[in-house]
Amino acid sequence: MLKLRPQTPFAAGEGASSAPPRHVAIIMDGNGRWAKARGLPRLAGHKRGVDSVREVVRAAAEAGVGRLTLYAFSTENWRRPEEEVAGLMDLLRYYLRHEARKLGRDGIRLRFIGDRAGLASDLQMAMASAEAVDCAGERMVLQIALNYGGRAEILAAARRLARRVAEGELCAENIDEGEFSAALTTKGDPDPDLVIRTSGERRISNFLLWQAAYAEYIFTPVLWPDFGREAFLAALEEYGARERRYGGV
Ligand code: FPP
Repeated sequence: MLKLRPQTPFAAGEGASSAPPRHVAIIMDGNGRWAKARGLPRLAGHKRGVDSVREVVRAAAEAGVGRLTLYAFSTENWRRPEEEVAGLMDLLRYYLRHEARKLGRDGIRLRFIGDRAGLASDLQMAMASAEAVDCAGERMVLQIALNYGGRAEILAAARRLARRVAEGELCAENIDEGEFSAALTTKGDPDPDLVIRTSGERRISNFLLWQAAYAEYIFTPVLWPDFGREAFLAALEEYGARERRYGGV
């Protein structure tokens, strides 16, 4: 069982807020470079990446984060070699089949965002079973972005709203931010407060484009397979020291 610590979720610096971010989203990057540096196939980097997933999920739940979104596979990742795509899908299948129940016992509810229809049917079934697992006293939602693209998500929401307007169900003037958020796959869930990208790249890469409009960003040079508990808690600490103004003064 996951040993969840009581409050004082992470060691914040002096003067910083000790409240953990409600929602942290991570672009897990650098698996390929981690493997290359060791003369290993890229898939070896992705396998080590799953170890980092386990460690960071645990650290996030212990720190009191309410929602953790991990960018596991983008709509652009299909352009990778077939063998790498198949290997990534196998890792995801393995993770869901072997770890969903344990996550549920630890109070971590799984959910997915992205275009499921484009995924293999057995993986879609594994995702549905993982989401249906009983969750003991929900501590955190682990949201996995799979076959996800921010622009595609925004377009789908626009189409959904346009259909409702055409059917006379909704008045175009009444489409506000709340209505639009509710039409996204994240359905009005809390937006990310903090987006972390590993491996030194400084791009958003089509991730949560609408939802992360006011997020704080942390770009770390650490490659994802080397990103563990310590690095995650350091990112929370850096977040805690930042002042968020949402366009105000
Ligand atoms: C980016 O590194 C990483 C990915 C595209 C895949 C991330 C997937 C995992 C960590 C494993 C599965 C996840 C879960 C939730 C079980 P890259 O390959 O682009 O690295 P590079 O830029 O160094 O080549």
